[in-house]
Parts: sequence; C-alpha cells; structure tokens
Amino acid sequence: MLEATSSSDLQQWVSKIEDRTAVVGIVGLGYVGLPLTLMFSETGFAVRGFDIDSQKVDCLNRGQSYIHRIEPRHIQAAQTSGFRATSEFSQIADVDVVLICVPTPLHPDHTPDMSYVVSTMESLAPFLHEGQMVILESTTYPGTTEELVVETINRHGASRGVRVLRSTDPSAVGGILDGVMVAFSPEREDPGNMITPRKDIPKIIGAIDERARVAASALYGSIFTTTVPVSSPATAEMTKLLENIYRSVNIALVNELKQLCQPMGIDVWEVINAAATKPFGFHAFYPGPGVGGHCIPVDPFYLSWKARQFGFSTRFIELAGQINESMPDYVVDTTRLALVRQGKSLCGASILLLGLAYKRDVDDLRESPSLRLIELLSLEGAKVEYNDPFFPTVGHGRHYHLEMTNTELSHLQRFDCVLIATDHSHYDMKQIVQNSTLVIDTRNATRHITSDKIVRC
Ligand SMILES: NC(=O)c1ccc[n+]([C@@H]2O[C@H](COP(=O)([O-])OP(=O)(O)OC[C@H]3O[C@@H](n4cnc5c(N)ncnc54)[C@H](O)[C@@H]3O)[C@@H](O)[C@H]2O)c1
Repeated sequence: MLEATSSSDLQQWVSKIEDRTAVVGIVGLGYVGLPLTLMFSETGFAVRGFDIDSQKVDCLNRGQSYIHRIEPRHIQAAQTSGFRATSEFSQIADVDVVLICVPTPLHPDHTPDMSYVVSTMESLAPFLHEGQMVILESTTYPGTTEELVVETINRHGASRGVRVLRSTDPSAVGGILDGVMVAFSPEREDPGNMITPRKDIPKIIGAIDERARVAASALYGSIFTTTVPVSSPATAEMTKLLENIYRSVNIALVNELKQLCQPMGIDVWEVINAAATKPFGFHAFYPGPGVGGHCIPVDPFYLSWKARQFGFSTRFIELAGQINESMPDYVVDTTRLALVRQGKSLCGASILLLGLAYKRDVDDLRESPSLRLIELLSLEGAKVEYNDPFFPTVGHGRHYHLEMTNTELSHLQRFDCVLIATDHSHYDMKQIVQNSTLVIDTRNATRHITSDKIVRC
C-alpha cells in the first residue's frame, strides 16, 4: 500500500499501476463491475471485489459465474491472478483504488434512487486512508461526485485527518499532496455488443484535480486503448447522460414515426435504412416495443430531476420518456386488432411472448418492455406465456411480480398469437412463422419472410 501522495509519491502511484503491483478494488460485481474486474485481472492486476450480495460473493469465490456471457473459466483465471470477492468492507483499506459500480435506479416517481451509492460510500469511507483513489462509475446526475462522494469521504475522515485534498487547496503546501484522490469515470458498456471490444470504448475521466487526473489516466490507460480526460467530474457525469439521452430521444422519434407510418402504409424500417445511406448527418435508430435495461429508461430522468433544481424543465427528455413508455400499449392495441381480424378476442387469447430480455442476446430483464407487455396483456384477459432460454423461470423483481416458467418453442401451434418482443439471434424466424397462427413482430425480425400471418408493429 502507498502511504501518501506527494508529487514523487504520485509517480510512485503511477509506477504501481505500470508494474501491476497496485491492488484494484471494485464495489458492485454486477453487469458492469464483474466484466471490469476481469479486464483488470486479465491485465495482471490483483482485484478485490466487494458486493453486499453474499450469494454473488460465494458464487465467485467458488469460481462460478452468474452472468451468462462470463464463463466460469474467466473467473477461475482471475482467481489465479489474485481475485477474491468479499462483503467485508474493512478490506477497502488494502486496495489502492476503489471503483464504484453499484446501481442507480429510479424511484417509482422517476426521481433518482441514490440509496446504493449512499450506502456504498457510508460503508467504505471509514476505511479510506491517504494515498488511495476513489472513482465513481455508476451513471448519475451532474454534481454527484462533488456533493456525495467527496462529502462522505471528508465527513468520515474528519476525525482521522483523512480528506479529499485538491492540488489547488492552500493547505497542500510545498508540493505535498496527500489525501484521497477522487474522479468520476462513466461506464459505457454496450451489453450484447460483440463488435466493439470493451477496451476499445474510449474511457471518459473527470477528475477533481490534476493529480487525480494523472492517477486515473494511468489506471484506465492500462486497460483501455484510449482515455478522454475532461475538465471536471460534473462534465463527465453530464457526458454520460447526454449519450443516453441522445439515444432515448432518437428511439422515441422512430417509435413515433413507426406509429404514423403504419396507417400511411409505409414501412418505417425501409425508411430508416434508406435514410441511413446518407453519409453524413443521420445516425440510424430503430423502433421497438419500448426501451429497457438499466440505462435508457432510467438515466435521462436523473438529469430532469437535477434540472428542476435550476428551475429548468427538460422537455425533450420527458416527451421521449412518455413516447417510449407508451410503446407497449401500442403493441397491445395492434395485437388486439390483429386477433379481431381473425375473429378472436384478446380476452381469453393464448399468447406466447418471445424474448423476455430487454435486448437481443442479453440475460438482463431490468425495465424490459416484455414485462410491461405481459402485465398489459394479462390485464386484458389474455393467457400469456413466454419463451426466453436466458430465463428458465421468472419471479419477482423491481416493478414486476411474475411466477412463470419458460415455454418451449415446440409448443408454438397451440397459441393464438406469437409476439416477438426481443429478437434473440438463435430464433429461427422462418420456423417460428411457419408453425404459428399469427405473429406480431415488434423488431422487424421477420423482414426476410413474406407471410400474411405476420403483423409488423
Ligand atoms: N448494465 C449496463 O449495461 C450499464 C451500462 C453502462 C452503465 N451502467 C451503470 O453502471 C451502474 C451499475 O449497473 P449494473 O448494471 O452493473 O448493476 P447491477 O445491478 O448488475 O450490479 C450492481 C451490483 O452492486 C451490488 N451492490 C448494491 N449495493 C451495494 C453496496 N452498497 N455495496 C456493494 N455492492 C452493492 C449489487 O449486489 C450488484 O451485484 C449503474 O449506475 C448503471 O446505470 C450500466
């Protein structure tokens, strides 16, 4: 462990990164924290993983994995490089840098639920000491790092003389820069994206001062191809929100156009693909049954909430949220109509929903529009089952209470309607259409198939 960070100590800190003797602590071993653990581990760092979920900790320490795309052999390889998981926060004292990757969901009223970040900071701050670095990776509103992370470290450290000391602070005299270093570096992972390796996604770094910038750049530079320093944590926090708001707004735009194109007899996917041939000024986004995951339906509202403190109303964000959230209702209306055209009623109809996950080839159903679709269809009296091999069963979670088990695709014929909510790549759409009575396709997954059984919506 490093004792302090004078400017020469900073060089020593960076050397520990370069020679891989630094110990990396990662708090929150979920979809973000566990892959990050493996990246550091594969680069030669000993990683200490922290999680309050004892089942996850035990699973990892047994060399097993709970994320589909991470194989046990990856965990076991990390263990041979020194990876250990724990719920014991006193071990924070033994690491050189702490990366925080805990959830930042919304309360039901669309305000930020910061309880996970708050409790993480309260758990780790008592064990911090000079020469360590704390980096928040969770997506959050601009100001969090300064208002919450720095504040908690200073409050807990006051009695022990441990605090976040900036290089501009008058008490950092004679070039002696001790204290805890702090930065914000947003996670930009794209789950299910097999094209862009995670190391090639440039890493944004917003540090509280030059010393922390140098330290964080050395750290992330050891695993990412490119680092992008920005002037402050708030700039980095806002950058991450802009990225996700950009997606939310553009997805809402094509979701709205989809609903207009349908009565006009225009294929919205053909329109988007034609527009995408323009070599500048257009980036293609595609419509769907709504938006899901821990980011797009959630993050924009972090900024809306913060904006209200400045007397500002984020109208684009609110409108995009409304349109995206209304998409499952549109899908249900389309399903009802399609059934009526076959002389059937939605009430009492048997429906097989394909794809519970919020997007293709991921084992994540947080905020998935499929959950809302099941809820709405059931409220209408439909008998709904699902197929998604990523989820053999589904029970309770945030905003859903289901007790269902996976239905095999061999049963397609017994359903009045098959609803494609998520187009996992292993689905054989030709066979699905062949063996179904009616197919509602919300993803344009049947685009190469011509059949009057298909209703695209
Ligand atoms: N999942 C993504 O694709 C993605 C992409 C970019 C950014 N993010 C952001 O990254 C952050 C983490 O998201 P995630 O998807 O990994 O969440 P997750 O729910 O998969 O994992 C979070 C982990 O943190 C643990 N945890 C909760 N409270 C804790 C505490 N007090 N101390 C220690 N561990 C605690 C949980 O047990 C869980 O294992 C969020 O802010 C999210 O917005 C996620």
